[in-house]
Amino acid sequence: MRRLRLRRDASLTLLLGASLGLLLYAQRDGVAPTTSAPRAPGRAAPKPTPRFRTFQLPDAGAALPAYEGDTPAPPTPTGPFDFARYLRAKDQRHFPLLINQPHKCRGDGAPGGHPDLLIAVKSVAADFERRQAVRQTWGAEGRVHGALVRRVFLLGVPRSLGSDRADGGEVGGAQTHWSALLQAESRAYADILLWAFDDTFFNLTLKEIHFLAWASAFCPDVRFVFKGDADVFVNIGNLLEFLASRDPAQDLLAGDVIVQARPIRMRASKYYIPEAVYGLPAYPAYAGGGGFVLSGATLHRLAGACAQVELFPIDDVFLGMCLQRLQLTPEPHPAFRTFGISQPSAAPHLSTFDPCFYRELVVVHGLSAADIWLMWRLLHGPHGPACAHPQPVAAGPFQWDS
Ligand SMILES: *[C@@H]1O[C@H](CO)[C@@H](O)[C@H](O)[C@H]1NC(C)=O
Repeated sequence: MRRLRLRRDASLTLLLGASLGLLLYAQRDGVAPTTSAPRAPGRAAPKPTPRFRTFQLPDAGAALPAYEGDTPAPPTPTGPFDFARYLRAKDQRHFPLLINQPHKCRGDGAPGGHPDLLIAVKSVAADFERRQAVRQTWGAEGRVHGALVRRVFLLGVPRSLGSDRADGGEVGGAQTHWSALLQAESRAYADILLWAFDDTFFNLTLKEIHFLAWASAFCPDVRFVFKGDADVFVNIGNLLEFLASRDPAQDLLAGDVIVQARPIRMRASKYYIPEAVYGLPAYPAYAGGGGFVLSGATLHRLAGACAQVELFPIDDVFLGMCLQRLQLTPEPHPAFRTFGISQPSAAPHLSTFDPCFYRELVVVHGLSAADIWLMWRLLHGPHGPACAHPQPVAAGPFQWDS
C-alpha cells in the first residue's frame, strides 16, 4: 500500500515537474520573486552576535559546487516601479482565494488535534522544484519531535497571465495549463493556497495580508506559525525546541530583526522608496521576511492590525508597521539568518556547506533546491550529521510536549 503510494507520488512528481519545467522554460520572464529585502548597504542593522562554537572545516566541505542552474531566475522586479499607479491601486486589497485548503488545520483525526506549527512558504507557480524540496525535507507534514506540523505554500497568479483573469472571459492556453497544473498539485499535496492577484515582488504585501487573514480564519487554534521563503533551510528541530518553552497565548514574533533601517532614496535601487511614500527617516523594527515565527495570539492580532495599515510595497517592512501599530517589538533571534551568511566578516572559518553550521542555526536564506536537499541529507544521514566535531549527546532526543 505504502509502496504503491510512493510510486504514485513519484510519477506525479515527475509529471508535474516535467510540465512545470516546460512552462517555466516557455515563460522565463514571467517569474516573480519569492524573497524579501536583502540587507542593503545603507541599512543599519545591529544584531546580537550568534554564539558560535569553533568548527574545523571538514576538508571535503570546501570545494562543493554551487548549484545555480536548477532554479528560476533571481527575484528582481522588472523596470522602474510605478509609485503613482501603486498609490492609486492601493485601496484594492481584497482578492478572492482561487485554491483553498479549508481542512488544513482540522487536526490529524484525533479530537483537539490542532497543529502545533503551521509552516507557510511564499512561492511562485513556476518554482515547483523548490516546493518539492521543501515538502520532502524541512517542510514535511506530520509529527516532528512530537509536534504536529502542517504546511501551505502561498501563491499568486503568474504575472504574464494575471491581467486577463479579472474579466473571466477568454482564457489563454498557458493560463489553462498553469491553473490545471496547480489544481493537480493541490490535489496531490493539499498544500497550495492561490490568490487572484499578480504574483509580483511588490505584491508580496498582498500575500502577507491574505495569508494572515486566511490563517486566522482557517487555523484559529494553531499554536505557532513559521512564515518564510522557499529558498531557506530551516532546522525544524531547533525551531521546535525554541518554541517549546513559549506560550502560544502570549505575543511572540521572532526572527532576524532589523532596527533603524533607513529607507533607500536612490532611484536605481530595487528598494527605492520616495519621500512622498514614506517620509520618516527610519522604518519601524521588522523581521526579515525570509523566515520568522509567530505565536497563535500574535497571528490573530496581526491579521487585525495589518488589515488597517496602508499597503506598503516592501512586505517585511509592512509587517513591521503592523507590529508597531500593536506596540509589539519583534524579538531578535541570532539563529535566524534571513539575509544569508556574509562569509568574510561573520564567519570566515565556516562553510555554508558545513552541516555543523546548519545544526546550530534555525533559518538560513538563499538556497537552491539542490542546496536544501544536500543540507537535509547531510544533517539526517544514516550516521547522523556528517560533522567534523559531533555535538555531545544531550539527555535524550528533544521531545515537544503540548
Ligand atoms: C498586484 O496585483 C494586482 C491584481 O492582480 C495588479 O493589478 C497589480 O498591478 C499588482 N501590483 C503590482 C505592484 O505588481
